[in-house]
Amino acid sequence: MKGVRLRGFVLCALMLFITGAINGAEGATIRVPGDYKTIQEAVDHASAGDTVVVSPGRYRGNITLKEDIILQGAGADSTIIEGDGTGSVIEGASGAVVEGFTITGSGRKGKTGITMDAGISANNAPMTIANNRIINNNTGIKLYYSPSNIINNVIADSDNYGVYLSYSDSTVKNNIIINNKNHGIYCSYSKPEIINNTIYNNLNGIYSEVSRVVIKNNIISGNKSAGVKWAEPIGSQEGSEPILSYNIVWGNGKDYVNVRPGEGGLAKDPGFVNPEGGDFHLKKSSPGIGAGEGGVDIGAFGGDDAQKEIPVSPSVKSYASVKPKKDVGKEPDYMSQMAWKEGTKSGKGNFEGYCVPCHGPEGRGDGVLAETLDVPPRDLSNSELLSTRTDEFLFKVIKNGGPSVGFSENMMPFSGTLSDEEIRNIISYIRSDICKCKYKGGGE
Ligand code: HEC
Repeated sequence: MKGVRLRGFVLCALMLFITGAINGAEGATIRVPGDYKTIQEAVDHASAGDTVVVSPGRYRGNITLKEDIILQGAGADSTIIEGDGTGSVIEGASGAVVEGFTITGSGRKGKTGITMDAGISANNAPMTIANNRIINNNTGIKLYYSPSNIINNVIADSDNYGVYLSYSDSTVKNNIIINNKNHGIYCSYSKPEIINNTIYNNLNGIYSEVSRVVIKNNIISGNKSAGVKWAEPIGSQEGSEPILSYNIVWGNGKDYVNVRPGEGGLAKDPGFVNPEGGDFHLKKSSPGIGAGEGGVDIGAFGGDDAQKEIPVSPSVKSYASVKPKKDVGKEPDYMSQMAWKEGTKSGKGNFEGYCVPCHGPEGRGDGVLAETLDVPPRDLSNSELLSTRTDEFLFKVIKNGGPSVGFSENMMPFSGTLSDEEIRNIISYIRSDICKCKYKGGGE
């Protein structure tokens, strides 16, 4: 055992050394309240690579992060960020790290969709979120096109989801996800890995649609509706499979819906020390001890990243150097695969790959994701409407997104995903096959 620990340590040190060498000089450290009174002021003055270190205390107000900065509290017990009660408490940024806080008090807006309020929200912004207690928000963590690392957090008491993943191939590890009124973890159009978590007393433990999800070494128990639930029935899950191994799934409304337990799956009382009192350590007699893959304990206190407490203080174990895999954010490969099938140059192929999830196969606004959006996708088959739109207008919406013409941000920009030519081909396809209409207005 000692040898293993030591090797891990040396490896960590080596990695730190190497990343240090690659990044060149380390970023600056900016202190709150020492250098700036508020967290937002400190963030505004930080540059990529800097660490904003926040002293113990209660800090009020929402925060908008900047790319590649590290926001570090003194630990969830002592550094508390309390949101305005509107919008998300922390609006993420690409490559940013948030660790060592309690994060609470988001707005209550949005049951589903990308405008949903959350403790931490990230749109097109892969992040690392570690060592936090994220409690009493509308949704705990909401990720949209943001494959992120979610490690060692307690995510609890949300009015809505614990963790919401849409187009976000995230790693969700060693978290305690409890007492959320909607699903503990919701996955759509994502390929996440959910490993060594304890997921207890939510609506469904894990609920997935159109996602391929690895679920390993977790305890999923006491969830009201189902432990693990798949939207797609067994037999039509190609590309969106549940891949389960070594989980304890027990004592849920139903343990499995459209899902099989997989290798090493156990249906036994996990033997928490005191779940009502919030202690999810395992009793010595727990069937989860040593029963995970490779002999690790099942649940949030087992596995390679196992900690004695969750969340731990970043001074004990910091994840600041764990960077998210940034590049996969914009273009989840299963979507481009769908598009490739038809050839990227073809408007049809790209329409099916990128637009159908929201707008539906015939463009009627009834895609699988439609009901997750608070502002519904437009019915693009409405020829009366589309014939009042110029091609330039459609081009602008598709390239720069809804807000560029005063529409909802739910209509996302495709400038990073599709070339101008590909967008024009999609417009031709919409004109020829979806609305079957041309622009009829009297010029511009
Ligand atoms: C994440 C969901 C989503 C995806 C993916 C999406 N859209 Fe949209 N789209 C919307 C929503 C929602 C609206 C309506 C916005 C509003 O009403 O404010 C919209 C509106 C539009 C409009 C505006 C129509 C008008 O009134 O002029 C066009 C055009 C459009 N989408 C085309 C596309 C195309 C083409 C794609 C694929 C390349 C696409 N959308 C992908 C959600 C989506």
